[in-house]
Amino acid sequence: MTLKSRRSILKELGFTALSLPLIPSLITANDRVQKIIPQKLDDTKYDSPLTAITLGAGARGNTYGNFANSYPKQLKIVGVAEPISIRNERYAQKHTIEEKHRFTTWEHVFEKPKFADAIIITTPDDLHYGPCMAALKMGYDILLEKPISPSEEQCREILELSIKTKRIVAVCHVLRYAPYFKKMKEIVASGVLGQLMSINHFEPIQHIHMAHSFVRGNWHNSKETTPIILAKSCHDMDIMRWLIGTSCEKIAAFGDLGWFKASNAPEGSTDRCTDGCSAEETCPYSALKVYHRDRSWTYVFDFPEDESTHGDFILDQLKTTDYGRCVYKMDNDQADHYVASMQFKGGITANFSMEAFTSYHGRKTRIMGAMGDIVGDMNQFVHTDFLTKEQYKWDVTVDEVSNYKNSGHGGGDWALVSDWIKAIKNRDPSILSSTIDASVESHLMAFAAEKSRASGNIIEIKV
Ligand SMILES: NC(=O)c1ccc[n+]([C@@H]2O[C@H](COP(=O)([O-])OP(=O)(O)OC[C@H]3O[C@@H](n4cnc5c(N)ncnc54)[C@H](O)[C@@H]3O)[C@@H](O)[C@H]2O)c1
Repeated sequence: MTLKSRRSILKELGFTALSLPLIPSLITANDRVQKIIPQKLDDTKYDSPLTAITLGAGARGNTYGNFANSYPKQLKIVGVAEPISIRNERYAQKHTIEEKHRFTTWEHVFEKPKFADAIIITTPDDLHYGPCMAALKMGYDILLEKPISPSEEQCREILELSIKTKRIVAVCHVLRYAPYFKKMKEIVASGVLGQLMSINHFEPIQHIHMAHSFVRGNWHNSKETTPIILAKSCHDMDIMRWLIGTSCEKIAAFGDLGWFKASNAPEGSTDRCTDGCSAEETCPYSALKVYHRDRSWTYVFDFPEDESTHGDFILDQLKTTDYGRCVYKMDNDQADHYVASMQFKGGITANFSMEAFTSYHGRKTRIMGAMGDIVGDMNQFVHTDFLTKEQYKWDVTVDEVSNYKNSGHGGGDWALVSDWIKAIKNRDPSILSSTIDASVESHLMAFAAEKSRASGNIIEIKV
């Protein structure tokens, strides 16, 4: 591809700030900043909104449910299954769900004749397969939280049944819908980097996030839920597979639980941070500090309405739930550092690193092509052309765009819901990028990584 055609492709991709340099070597990324303007969410006025039943009214069930409150002409939640009564009650009120369509567990939904267009599956990891298979058998379309299932066989069974029943299953690989990654994908696919050679992708979990979700929280036990490579990094396996555009053939992985274990517990530490731990003041992971003093990561608690009681409520939660337990004395087993090397079709290589021990969040991606490279941090990325040394900085600030407000994962959460509704309304799964078949393929990379980590072997992946 010539320089001229590389430039015209960048213009087509939206680089309106492009001006041809007089002295190329002096043109830096800061001279050329192009805002990535997120695509507007679909605002087609359908005759009636898509109707859906939410299974699991926890954090994710509310993320997707809130879309219905902001876009009532697109989505209406007409049923809920949730065993925690306060969550069930609040969800039913928020969406004015009739009493007869409120259930305590997902199985009860499928005892009734079909009463909605679609099912939103936001139950815990080990409760995706059952409701997904039941929903497909009854002819529902589905929004399915990742992981598809903790088992490879079950993933393949869901794929098979979705093909047989011709239902649309969107997997919540939400990063594919984030404007930042969408633009990165467009640039790689345009060919301006020349032949794609390699990707280096880094996922800094951030140390408190790690302690919250994978030491104390829902995903602390890999056998009861899913290994961290699936629970957290299936997004990253999926993004690498998507950016590269060919199948992963081989993978080798390493990593383990190195820090959050009993042998690292400081002297004088107690089972709970609320038990008078003598190391509490010097421990960055202290539950009293994180949840009570800093009031961070408290979204997991079902707070009472009266805000004046919230301080005492948190203390009570720390005395009774896992969130108050010492990070060194949990029954956790998730790896806290994890690396994987991959080879894709066509000899393209990728390196992935997931790290708990960082002070920051935000995935960092480096993409290397024969004619140029990309360096990105999820807020912006810089593309450098090797011939001219010209740099193009793509900047995304989704908060500036009102219809992406309240949508997590860099705007990906609601962009996914919007595309999912459109795909169902048009009976066209190609509107989605995270279809079930594409998602199963990137899950296979995670299953293979776990096999490699356990066996010490390089694992070949059969798609
Ligand atoms: N796409 C993403 O980026 C992303 C992010 C976080 C979590 N997740 C996934 O989303 C799913 C839900 O996670 P979450 O953070 O919302 O967890 P959560 O614990 O907040 O919500 C899960 C809800 O399911 C309910 N539930 C349990 N058993 C049930 C049953 N038998 N029937 C109906 N409901 C039942 C729980 O009571 C809970 O309210 C998990 O699989 C998780 O891995 C995905």
